[in-house]
Amino acid sequence: MKDAAPQTVRLADYMPPSHLVEEVALHFTLDPGATRVRSAIRFVPNPARADAVAGQADLRLDGEDLRLISAVVDGVAIDAAPDATGLTLPADALPRGAFLFEAEVEIAPASNTALEGLYMSKGMYCTQCEAEGFRKITFYPDRPDVMAPFRVTIESDLPVLLSNGDPVNAGPGWAEWEDPWPKPAYLFALVAGDLVAHQDFFRTRSGRTVELNIWVRKGDEDRCAYAMGALKRSMTWDEDTYGREYDLDIFNIVAVDDFNMGAMENKGLNIFNSKYVLASPETATDDDFARIEAIIAHEYFHNWTGNRITCRDWFQLCLKEGLTVFRDQSFSGDMRSHAVKRIEDVLTLRARQFREDAGPLSHPVRPSSYQEINNFYTATVYEKGAEVIGMLKRLVGDDGYRRALDLYFERHDGEATTIEAWLKVFEDATGRDLAQFKRWYTDAGTPHLRVEEDFNDGVYTLTFEQETAPTPGQPEKPPRVIPIAVGLLNPNGDEVVPTRVLEMTEARQSFAFEGLSARPVPSILRGFSAPVVLERATTAEERAFLLAHDTDPFNRWESGRSLAKEVLARMVTEGAAPAPGYLDGIKAILRDDSLDPAFRALALRLPSEDDMAQTLHATGHVPDPAQIHRVREALKDAIAAHLGADLPATYAAMAVAGPYTPEAAPAGKRALRGAALAYLTRTDGGTAATAQFAAADNMTDSLQALTALLDIGRGEAELAAFEARWKDDPLVMDKWFTLQVIMAAPEACAATATALTERADFDWKNPNRLRSVLGAVAANAAGFHHASGAGYRFLADWLIKVDPLNPQTAARLSTAFDSWARYDADRQGLIREELARIAATPGLSRDLGEMVARMRGADDA
Ligand code: TRP
Ligand code: ZN
Repeated sequence: MKDAAPQTVRLADYMPPSHLVEEVALHFTLDPGATRVRSAIRFVPNPARADAVAGQADLRLDGEDLRLISAVVDGVAIDAAPDATGLTLPADALPRGAFLFEAEVEIAPASNTALEGLYMSKGMYCTQCEAEGFRKITFYPDRPDVMAPFRVTIESDLPVLLSNGDPVNAGPGWAEWEDPWPKPAYLFALVAGDLVAHQDFFRTRSGRTVELNIWVRKGDEDRCAYAMGALKRSMTWDEDTYGREYDLDIFNIVAVDDFNMGAMENKGLNIFNSKYVLASPETATDDDFARIEAIIAHEYFHNWTGNRITCRDWFQLCLKEGLTVFRDQSFSGDMRSHAVKRIEDVLTLRARQFREDAGPLSHPVRPSSYQEINNFYTATVYEKGAEVIGMLKRLVGDDGYRRALDLYFERHDGEATTIEAWLKVFEDATGRDLAQFKRWYTDAGTPHLRVEEDFNDGVYTLTFEQETAPTPGQPEKPPRVIPIAVGLLNPNGDEVVPTRVLEMTEARQSFAFEGLSARPVPSILRGFSAPVVLERATTAEERAFLLAHDTDPFNRWESGRSLAKEVLARMVTEGAAPAPGYLDGIKAILRDDSLDPAFRALALRLPSEDDMAQTLHATGHVPDPAQIHRVREALKDAIAAHLGADLPATYAAMAVAGPYTPEAAPAGKRALRGAALAYLTRTDGGTAATAQFAAADNMTDSLQALTALLDIGRGEAELAAFEARWKDDPLVMDKWFTLQVIMAAPEACAATATALTERADFDWKNPNRLRSVLGAVAANAAGFHHASGAGYRFLADWLIKVDPLNPQTAARLSTAFDSWARYDADRQGLIREELARIAATPGLSRDLGEMVARMRGADDA
């Protein structure tokens, strides 16, 4: 149990460590109930700490849930009395200068349900140390600015014993690993299990051969090929694009079934949620393949952005995460389609980060205080952190960006550093002053950008006004630098001014374009050049014009998107009928064979119910989730009717011949085919979907068909067939659980979810299975927000149940409640009641406790 009175950690209180670590040796004797960990740590006073150099600083070691057996300093046993969070070695008991600290502790991996530290998953041992899990393995200065080379010995009967770095020695029942690259404890990893490897090799550009292994349980070997290919593509890409080569002789990836997050970049030993490694055409969808490619790349890219250069403290988390997300997004764009990838990334950003930023959990990309750091692995740190780097790149240009990154690697390799150092590198490499830009890191909230236009004597003027609403703890929001990419089109559809980046620095600022013969149509915020909300009063006709003519693919999609939102909003607030212009626009996109099918599929996708609730709230309405649901269903019917015969035609045209491959081109065709099927099913009573399900030879086709059938209240037989075929495959069954909850009618959502949780195969200690139902309830907006409060109660009951065992996952799932302030008084009351009930639960974890306090708006949060 963590300490009861939560402490707030503040960036302003940062102090360099009293001691540095020159080297670490760890010896593990593995046992489910009583693992022994022997450590030998060579400490040296930190030259940056005069008190330590003078022998006047205590050494504080972190340690939680450890049974201390012995502690020795320079060969002499010491009397050490750990408290709940660690062990203090008093200055007067320490030798002057360097010394060796040795300890032996006992831990119990089999009863570690939090999945943090050393734990067991299906008979295998594995670790998760980020952010502060190493302290559950042994006593250590568990902070990222203490970096050291590790030597690790593992004793166990299990056949495969892995740790970071390169293998140096092994015998029957033991193995020794050495990682020469100094690293913080959060990058430590150990795996032991009865595993098999899918093996390959990679030749680096300097000619070294690296052994690559993806370790999985027996039977899963044939699902690793795609991840291996993605790894090799990532390694090549980082050499070609960033000049970064891999730096060990071996790179291991392990797939683990019980994992709190997606994956972890431990040096030379990445550990993955098996969901993001294992894939075959029969078991994984096109989206799964794309996510696997992105996450493999993300973790691999951390080797340089995160591991070789790490964070000084956890406030700097975006230093590695924002940059690494930015890199994995660029990679995916290069591998697939930049236009499609950008649209998908903006969809995610708005759904998750804009939502977070608009509510009580809003925080800066670089937060300045936290209680539990695990709660700050957020869309803001990751996704907005990546957007901020995208803006930086736009402002300094591609060459400036490359020079800055080269300088970053040259100057900071081997260091634990800060956002200040990151920005300084850009200033030094490009000569640009980034003082104002820094606000993107320190100030929370999404700026709203209002636009006015004027045309006079051939001069077209755009005037922008930026405003950011107050966020928790930050009432004042000074103006930020906003790169606004703009292009101008002639009324005949030709582009008269190609994309130009306007740099807005004031609260209100005008930009003039001269020499225009006619009033142009502006295309503003091309490529979504800044993470802001654009507010521009315009006509449906102009949006339809841009949907048809814009040369910027993102804005072309965006015009259709805003049209759809307007149509839905007017249906909700005025009872209007779907605008014919919008329906015609959709039809034109569907028919336009010059457009990438993946792009057309995205253009056909309607804004989500949650997106509509967020948008309606932002424009002064109180959203009614039930009504939004009804209206959106009605719009789907109207679209289906309007598209008519185009649906079977597109459905037939997008059939992919030959065996399944997960590449972008066939996946794009399947996406458009699936979009057509969803509408078609509303008019053909399910004939096409039933046939597709029966004929499917891949998971994408199966799930599309099943989803379409459930959407019209059919699909019982298919659900049963799916279960019969996949009951022994947990990753596939997760989809089966999720789908039923997502597709449940609003009034049936909580009951459906409850029934699923009562099944024997609802293994709620497995985070994937837990999320497959709890996450799905939160994602079924009308079901979760059903006026009965059943959705809220369901989630709160489960959070209270999960929290004592897995606080991290409980805290993450609790964010479903963060949008409470959007809704009517009744729903607000119901949610606040559930939050109060959770808050009153005795022994609540620091993780969930902090989240609930912030969502309730407690003063000290
Ligand atoms: N650093 C990991 C990533 O972004 C994230 C991560 C994996 C994580 N497991 C975690 C963060 C557990 C917090 C806790 O790739
Ligand atoms: Zn990461």
